[in-house]
Amino acid sequence: MSLEIPHRAKANGATASTKAVILVGGPSRGTRFRPLSLDLPKPLFEVAGHPIIWHCLTAIAKVPHIQEVCMIGYYDESVFRDFIKDSSKEFPQIKIVYLREYQALGTAGGLYHFRDAILKGRPERFFVLNADVCCSFPLNDMLKLFEDKDAEAVILGTRVTEDAASNFGCIVSDAHSKRVLHYVEKPESHISNLINCGVYLFSTDSIFPSIRSAIKKRTDRPRLLSYPSSENLESSFFQDDDEESKNSEVLRLEQDILSDMADSKQFYVHETKDFWRQIKTAGSAVPANALYLQKAWQSGSSELAAPSANILPPVFIHPTATVDPTAKIGPNVSIGPRVTVGPGVRIKEAIVLEDSEIKHDSCVLYSIIGWNSRVGAWARVEGTPTPVNSHTTSIVKNGVKVQSITILGKECGVGDEVRVQNCVCLPFKELKRDVANEVIM
Ligand code: GDD
Repeated sequence: MSLEIPHRAKANGATASTKAVILVGGPSRGTRFRPLSLDLPKPLFEVAGHPIIWHCLTAIAKVPHIQEVCMIGYYDESVFRDFIKDSSKEFPQIKIVYLREYQALGTAGGLYHFRDAILKGRPERFFVLNADVCCSFPLNDMLKLFEDKDAEAVILGTRVTEDAASNFGCIVSDAHSKRVLHYVEKPESHISNLINCGVYLFSTDSIFPSIRSAIKKRTDRPRLLSYPSSENLESSFFQDDDEESKNSEVLRLEQDILSDMADSKQFYVHETKDFWRQIKTAGSAVPANALYLQKAWQSGSSELAAPSANILPPVFIHPTATVDPTAKIGPNVSIGPRVTVGPGVRIKEAIVLEDSEIKHDSCVLYSIIGWNSRVGAWARVEGTPTPVNSHTTSIVKNGVKVQSITILGKECGVGDEVRVQNCVCLPFKELKRDVANEVIM
């Protein structure tokens, strides 16, 4: 009879230690999140009442025995100081550190540059989460698959439509064993509709040697082409040049490492049937807000507003906001600190950011109202709903691609009785006439 020792369990019976890394990017990324990222780094933007990276951290905190989370990016150190201070109080069992790249090093370059920090304390494996995804982060299920298969890497996958698949990393796997057989980043032709969710679990023994051999390959055979990133795949009005794709030191997990891993390593995929979205454009914060609110509602979160005749759940209202009892709010609405909502207002599928004022009898639908903005009486600020399972927030109106979600940047004003429809409005604009399908600069 053979005695089976659980995979990866240490000989002395102690639990294998696990860390987590959140890839937060830097100021040259997230350009499609403008105009909102003009005033706040995207990872700190609040959906469902909390910064985007708080949702990652909360999921990590549910994995037993994780004691350290490294946020890796190339924003200035000061950017995450308050977030780390607040989160350290909220998750006292976890040490949270920010590791700053001296320049954009790519999704694998940052991991490799900070390998000593990641390896400190000798973790046997670590999660890597792209900060710009919204999902239920089934990390414990990934951990279970990792242990069951004695894996070197596990990737989180989800099914999308064939049309959408080529915007992501595509995975071909063995349905029975769940082994990844083939991986292609943003392929030109269709190979699979199982895509990379941007969440991984790597064995420390395996990932760093894989990155090292990718560096060696690079030195032996320098790359001629720039990388496809979704930042340069989908042209956008708000887009800058992708500085990272010009930087020859950049190493990307997706193109440089994962394809080779599929050939040679114990690489598995955990397919989630739960929700998953990218948070790329500013408009995509609205579906992310809705999905996280629904998750909070299902888990009975006490943070949400109590349902009533005028509160259609799920709704988050910050305790410092003032909402008139005759205003009808929800579903899927977040109202930020010190916001004032007047009588007779209707708000649905929207985010209203702090210090804004929504005057009486106005209507805000499928929209984001920027910090300190004002929506006049009887005004309408509205976007267009997109299909629930859609992975894009742009729609075609009169032959032109526009945002389905209306976004007002910081300190915008919408006059009384003015209608704003499918517009993106840069900060400090005063809208005194009706506008539709425009970028207001
Ligand atoms: N620290 C650091 N340094 N983070 C980075 C860097 C960098 O140089 N470059 C990107 N990131 C972070 C971004 O902030 C984001 O959280 C994540 O890494 C991935 O960003 P992109 O490189 O823009 O990739 P993508 O979003 O186009 O595609 C990736 O994610 C998809 C899922 O959302 C790929 O992994 C796809 O395969 C995947 O489907």
